[in-house]
Amino acid sequence: MSGFPAKFMSWTQEELFPGRQAHLDEILSSDEGYYITGAVGCGKTAFITVLGKELSRRSTTTVHFRNLPRLFFEIRGSYNDALKASEYSLITALIQPEILILDDIGAEKVNENVRDDLCTLLNERIWNGRRTFFTSNLSIAQIGERTCDRIASRIAELTGGGRNVIVLGNTDLRVGRNKT
Ligand SMILES: Nc1ncnc2c1ncn2[C@@H]1O[C@H](COP(=O)(O)OP(=O)(O)O)[C@@H](O)[C@H]1O
Ligand SMILES: [Mg+2]
Repeated sequence: MSGFPAKFMSWTQEELFPGRQAHLDEILSSDEGYYITGAVGCGKTAFITVLGKELSRRSTTTVHFRNLPRLFFEIRGSYNDALKASEYSLITALIQPEILILDDIGAEKVNENVRDDLCTLLNERIWNGRRTFFTSNLSIAQIGERTCDRIASRIAELTGGGRNVIVLGNTDLRVGRNKT
């Protein structure tokens, strides 16, 4: 496993709400990618980290986590600092892992460059048959509106034709509302 947020690394399946364990079981019984959506703060990153731990426990393959706003922050930094990793190496590093989690897609700042990078990456994931997961506050259709249809179409291809969508709900757990 690599790249996962330290905050959730100690979390176990038992700490997720019961309904979420059922979602976890569904994903673990499949070999396809999934799209995890829901409001800001509903627990998508926590959920996908617990999933990533379970996926890596059950197999010998690499499970890699990457937060997309952070990736593009690093890419922007790479333009004016020769010592930092290049855009090319940052993107190609995400082609190799057998299992990749792209966290918070749709929250990155979108420009032509971001679109091209994402399209290239998703193409490579498709061509190499590599399992890919997404979390987002947006639906796949909204990703299409916000970024472009090419990206939305490729996300759908990586998530069972867009059928493997799990909605975690509308409650922002960060602001201390009821955990429903
Ligand atoms: N299953 C859960 N049970 C209790 N608290 C949770 C659960 N999932 C997430 N949280 C809490 O909610 C907050 C937001 O979780 P996070 O996964 O970062 O949300 P998102 O990625 O959807 O914005 C975290 O601080 C976390 O402690
Ligand atoms: Mg998150």
